[in-house]
Amino acid sequence: MEGGSLHILMLPWLAFGHLLPFLELSKSLARKGHRISFLTTTRNVARLPTIPPPLTASINFIEITLPQIEHLPENATATIDLPSDDLRPYLRKAFDTLDQKLSDLIQNKEISSLDIIVFDYAAHWVPQIAAKFGVPCAFFAVFKASSLSFFGPPSALLGGAGARTKEEDFTMLPAWIPFPSTAVYRPFESRELFKPGCIPDASGVSETYRFGISIQGSQIVLIRSCKELEPEWLQLLGQLYEKPIIPVGLLPPSIEQGWHAALDWLDKQEQGSTVYVAFGSEVKLNSAQVQEIAIGLELSELPFVWALRAGSVPAGLVESIQDRGHGLVCMDWVPQLRILAHASIGGFLTHGGWNSIVEGLAFGRAMVVLPMIFEQGLNARNLVEKGFAVEVPRKEDGSFTGDGIAKSLRLAMFEDEGEELRTKAKQCTNVFGNEELNDFYVSESIEHIRRICSSRFGGLEHSTK
Ligand SMILES: *[C@@H]1O[C@H](CO)[C@@H](O)[C@H](O)[C@H]1NC(C)=O
Repeated sequence: MEGGSLHILMLPWLAFGHLLPFLELSKSLARKGHRISFLTTTRNVARLPTIPPPLTASINFIEITLPQIEHLPENATATIDLPSDDLRPYLRKAFDTLDQKLSDLIQNKEISSLDIIVFDYAAHWVPQIAAKFGVPCAFFAVFKASSLSFFGPPSALLGGAGARTKEEDFTMLPAWIPFPSTAVYRPFESRELFKPGCIPDASGVSETYRFGISIQGSQIVLIRSCKELEPEWLQLLGQLYEKPIIPVGLLPPSIEQGWHAALDWLDKQEQGSTVYVAFGSEVKLNSAQVQEIAIGLELSELPFVWALRAGSVPAGLVESIQDRGHGLVCMDWVPQLRILAHASIGGFLTHGGWNSIVEGLAFGRAMVVLPMIFEQGLNARNLVEKGFAVEVPRKEDGSFTGDGIAKSLRLAMFEDEGEELRTKAKQCTNVFGNEELNDFYVSESIEHIRRICSSRFGGLEHSTK
């Protein structure tokens, strides 16, 4: 298969924060002549960005439906469809039925000539299926290496050596991190994290178990990162996982087409003057949080565009913010990348998900982070440590004030104290926005994938062909 085209199956978790980087990786691989089968629900496929025409022939969506699961809302096929976070375990339970589905698809040759399965942490059953059919598999981690390192080796995730047994364990630097770092959880975060993360949920397994098995069972781990950004963490991760960690680059997403009112509004603002505010697709802000953010934006006196998801807004708030005239609240879909790319944007108030960080720093925006769930707290502290961001101050119970938001925004956007941060954020475009560099990583990772396909599984790889 020297130099030949590979057939790669992509199996992302049912969340847009995962589906989108899996799709970006698919596009990057397709551009280099490889064939992609992308497995997700019909409803998710309909909601993904359209594939550019030159690539449509190389990316084949395998559209499936999920079974009806008790407690899971009808037609819910991504986390964005869930009215509350405590329904996630039922979506995982529905997702886990794909193990049989995947087995059948390969068995019946509906997916054939497969070279490798690239899967997400939630699909912990992939390594077993892959082994059964003699196909190698790669866990694709859509997280920062620093945050993954904090969670540790598979043994720590699977209840063995280094396993965390109490909330406090998430608030200290674990023994396996050999250098100083401030990137640990705050007590209020670890309270939220510990139970749902470490204890089996309605799907029958815990989140940490899914991670542990996915790492342990894959031949290589692909990661959305690069050596320019976090060399020490990538190296550490290789030691912790005891297998090749292959950075695929940052996968800077392509800018969407289409007009939006926010772009016209931004045309009228001064260069670098405006803050873009968005908290991603997973975070559901409560009304008190929305209120404080609104107060903070008003106190900062900065122009802003706020992408605010419907359903979380106190009555009358949008009108009262917009009446004051220095901001725009968008409750529909917004072209986030086109907004971030707009010259009027100077800063980005974000929850600090890895996708949003990549997007903000690709355009060198000053980052103000207000982490909410998952690994966002670790990302935030890591960015602050690197001098790329300021984190909004929190009280012991995790609450924040409008005043804290305003102070952080002013520091990041124009105060002298934030000068270094702004300079460093701008320098980030050299890495985050560097197409050539990120393309190099994709090429390199294809060579690694090829090696895995031809060496380790050399005798078996044609068994499905
Ligand atoms: C689910 O999808 C079907 C088919 O598109 C539609 O007829 C039905 O109204 C949807 N149900 C809900 C609750 O959205």
